[in-house]
Amino acid sequence: MAATYFLRYLMERPLVDLPPAELPEGFVWVPWSDNLLETHAEVLYESFAGELDSVVFPSLGSREGCRRVMSNIANSIFFVPEATWMVATEDMSCMCGTIQGARASDVMGAIQNLGVVPQFRHLGLGRALLLKALHGFRDCGFQRAMLEVTAENEPAVRLYEAVGFKIARVKRRPASSGEF
Ligand SMILES: CC(C)(COP(=O)(O)OP(=O)(O)OC[C@H]1O[C@@H](n2cnc3c(N)ncnc32)[C@H](O)[C@@H]1OP(=O)(O)O)[C@@H](O)C(=O)NCCC(=O)NCCS
Repeated sequence: MAATYFLRYLMERPLVDLPPAELPEGFVWVPWSDNLLETHAEVLYESFAGELDSVVFPSLGSREGCRRVMSNIANSIFFVPEATWMVATEDMSCMCGTIQGARASDVMGAIQNLGVVPQFRHLGLGRALLLKALHGFRDCGFQRAMLEVTAENEPAVRLYEAVGFKIARVKRRPASSGEF
């Protein structure tokens, strides 16, 4: 059987001229803390379950897989807590979205996973989370940021382009390659 591939864009942006990371009214920032690993994993699961990227990365389609992904990120020597955030409702009753950051090189920060829970989409939270992570990278001294996105994931590609990311490279990922 012929192999099936997903096209993935590697996108980059210099960390200059960053617009402010502004949340709509009624939402607050939740900075990284070690005791939030499980919560990030749950928000990751709620954001990615049933979405295209849980086909590309099957780990993102299960709670256990999301826990593993989050644990790998947070326990890596490349983890950047300053670029790792959640957004919550003001009363902290709901966690609405997550983003994590890692160090790709001395000058390059790498966005890991940006996810917004379906009921909180189209409010500007995805854009705000992305910008918050970019400010975190810049404050740590990184000069550029990169991310990877599945080419067919139009809402995500549109968001990244709107925030100034440009395609640097196109990669192919086998559909059945499994692990994150
Ligand atoms: C991609 C994703 C993070 C976007 O999150 P989001 O919170 O909906 O993003 P935003 O609200 O900032 O922007 C999304 C759209 O809402 C619009 N929007 C923003 N604020 C708005 C408002 N107040 N009223 C109406 N629309 C608004 C934006 O203009 C944008 O429209 P566009 O897609 O036509 O350009 C989200 O769809 C998601 O979690 N998808 C599943 C996981 C995933 O694929 N993540 C990306 C992995 S690379």
